Parts: sequence; C-alpha cells; structure tokens
Amino acid sequence: MKVLVVGGGGREHALVWKISQSPLVETIYCAPGNPGIAELAECVHINADEIDALCDFAQAEQIDLTVVGPEVPLTMGIVDTFQAAGLDAFGPNRAAAQIEGSKGFSKDLMARHGIPTADYQSFTDHAQAVAYIKQQGAPIVVKADGLAAGKGVIVAMTEEQAITAVDDIMLDNVFGEAGASVVIEEFMDGEEASFFAFTDGKNILPLASSQDHKRVNDNDEGPNTGGMGAYSPAPVVTAELHDQIVETIVKPTVDGMAADGCPYAGILYVGLMIKNGQPRVVEYNARFGDPEAQPLLMRMKSDIVPVLQACARGELSQDTIDWHEKAAVCVVMASGGYPASFEKGLPISGLEQAADIDELMVFHAGTAAQDGAVVNNGGRVLGVTGLGTTVKDAIDKAYQGVSLIDWQDVHYRKDIGARALNR
Ligand code: AMP
Ligand code: GLY
Repeated sequence: MKVLVVGGGGREHALVWKISQSPLVETIYCAPGNPGIAELAECVHINADEIDALCDFAQAEQIDLTVVGPEVPLTMGIVDTFQAAGLDAFGPNRAAAQIEGSKGFSKDLMARHGIPTADYQSFTDHAQAVAYIKQQGAPIVVKADGLAAGKGVIVAMTEEQAITAVDDIMLDNVFGEAGASVVIEEFMDGEEASFFAFTDGKNILPLASSQDHKRVNDNDEGPNTGGMGAYSPAPVVTAELHDQIVETIVKPTVDGMAADGCPYAGILYVGLMIKNGQPRVVEYNARFGDPEAQPLLMRMKSDIVPVLQACARGELSQDTIDWHEKAAVCVVMASGGYPASFEKGLPISGLEQAADIDELMVFHAGTAAQDGAVVNNGGRVLGVTGLGTTVKDAIDKAYQGVSLIDWQDVHYRKDIGARALNR
C-alpha cells in the first residue's frame, strides 16, 4: 500500500512512525512533513490546506489511503474532494467536521441528543451577548464560533473579562469571520481528560485514555496552549468511567450525527470535564489530539492501518485495539515565548544522543532543516515521548531525553504527568 499523511506536526510524525510499522505499507508520503518525518517518509512540498494539489498528487501516485492530521483541511472539505476523485481518505467530511469547526453546531448537536455539556446560548448580536453575561454572572466562558487556532476560548473569571472578550470578538473582530457568532456557556470545574474513538459513522472503536496539559507553565499556570505534554493512560478515567463515556457521550454523538444526516467518520476527539465521576463535554475535535497522539500511538500494539482504512471505507468491524501495558509520557519542548511571539531558526543540539535511548521517541513538531542543522521553526518544537513500566518510569524516561536536548531559550514544563502520580 501507498499511504499519504497530511500535516507536518508532532501528531503527524507519530502517525507516520506508527503507520511505517505496518506490514501492509510499502511507501509513505507526508505533505508537507518535517525533518523528523523525513527520516521515515518521503516529504512532499504541498501544504496541508492545498487540497486540489494534494488530490492531484494522490491520483498521480495512486495513493491507497490518505490520513488527514489537522482540522483546517477537514473543515475545508479535503475528504469530500478525495472521495469525489475515488480516493480513500481518513477523516470526517466537511459537513461532519463542523463538530469542531463550529461551536454552535456542536452545542446544538449535544442539546438535540441529550449529551451532557455546559449550559449555553449562541449570539450574533453584541448587546444581547452582553445582557446574557450580566444576567448569568461570572465565572463564564466565551467562545468564538469558528476555528481560531486554539485561541477562541476565553475562560472569564469576572463579568468585565467576559464583556471585554465579547467586545474583542464581536466588535473588533479579532478572530475575523470565526467570531461572527459567539457561544457563551457555563463555567465547568473539574479535571479534564481527552477521549478518542475511531468510527466509520456507525461503529465505534474507543482508544485508551489520555490527558493533556494545556497551560504553558508548571502547576497549570499561564495562558492556554495547544498542549505542553500528555500521558496515557489517564488514571482519572477508570474502567467504569470509560464505559460511561462511551455510552453517554461517544455513542449518542456518532448516532446523533448519523440521525441528523451528517454521519461522522474518522477519529472523534472528545474533550471532557470530569467532576465527582461525571463526565461532560468541553468540546469536540475532528482529529487526533496533539500531543495526545504521541503517547497514545507509542502505546498502541495493534496495526493502525486496517483501522484507518476501515473507517475511511465505512466498514469498521474490529472491536478492540491491543495496548502496551506500559505507560507513555510526552513532554513538549517549546520555543521560549510561546504561545506569544518567539525567535525561529535556533539550532537544536542533542537530537542524536536522545535517539540512542531505548523506548524513547523524539517526535518533531515545529522544526526545519537549515544549513545542515535542525532548527526551531514553530511554537511547539519537539514531543519527547517515553515508555515506562509505571507512569513514574515513563516520566523519567521522557525527561532523560529532554535533558540531552537544548537550544537557546527552550521552554518546557517540569511537571508533566505529576497529576497521574498524585492519584
Ligand atoms: P476548547 O478550545 O474548547 O478546548 O477550550 C480550551 C480550554 O478552555 C479547555 O481545554 C478548557 O480548559 C477551557 N474551557 C472551555 N470551555 C470551558 C467551560 N465551559 N468551563 C471551563 N473551562 C472551559
Ligand atoms: N491537545 C489539544 C488539541 O489537540 O487540541
């Protein structure tokens, strides 16, 4: 088989790494890829949102399966374009990707199908949004409806913060079209977890549990990021809670999308808030989480390729995935300054030494090759991911790798996985 992976971050490096182990696969391409991915796949100079160029490439190379990593091409309809050309592509089509692309769409879906989530209202009128905030009081959460590169959610601890957020989004258009409508919802406290399930639109195949670390600094301080580290399994998701999440959230979501004439195929990412053992949905994403994909795929024993193919073809019949008993922990090494501005092009040392460590992978996210060196080229630069018999061992393994790698102004959290240890 020939497989094309679309994207060029840590998630796509982990996907390429996992797919490369499949005996079914002869050649892997990745568009656009990155220097880490280039060691396992042939990188193609087409960006993830150049859908027609990607489709032309897949037709010319007779690609058997295309796996789409990021949300932007999914919400633009990459899967529709590939299917119309007779090509298998893993991921939801444009209509189904609205589950991530529009907060209003996903909230209405949950309301219609009785899926537990925060109370909310949607607004296109600024004055009505402000009146609602005053009526509800703080804390309260303001969300731009559309995709805003992970920045469209404001958790406001005061009414003033919430009104400022609504002003920024609806009057000053800081997120452009994505802010034409806003969702204002109840603040939920509790512990967050990430839950993933493969689906072909009817059948589901849940993955192991995982947890992300969204804030940039230790002890969950500082601004939200795309994710500073992750681990799997997440002890907060007990076997009982796992079943409850499947029955009360994942199945009603997949069945609800199908009943609404909008079947969802691909991987469904449910962001959860868990309080007193009760899960509620924070958000859906239409793709693998990043960095969660990195520890999850390191723990996955089963071949991933038949699962991806079955989802793309609407014929998922497999009902279990085999997982390594070991725990996996991913520590993200980021550019100093992220999630605000940072310097690029700084040479990274220690990658070869880290590559020699057993049961450790250094997944590349924002890297580039420059004058024979690997340099930082994005906010999140590397995902250093280790396996261990216990979570503690996996943490130690990941930080052993981190300690060998360096560049100017590098920033990483020192407490990834600590929450799992404290349970
Ligand atoms: P999202 O982009 O929807 O994942 O939101 C980003 C982050 O904002 C989430 O991971 C939560 O930490 C936080 N968040 C979103 N919605 C809520 C809510 N209703 N209550 C509390 N925190 C929230
Ligand atoms: N790690 C959070 C995300 O992928 O959206």
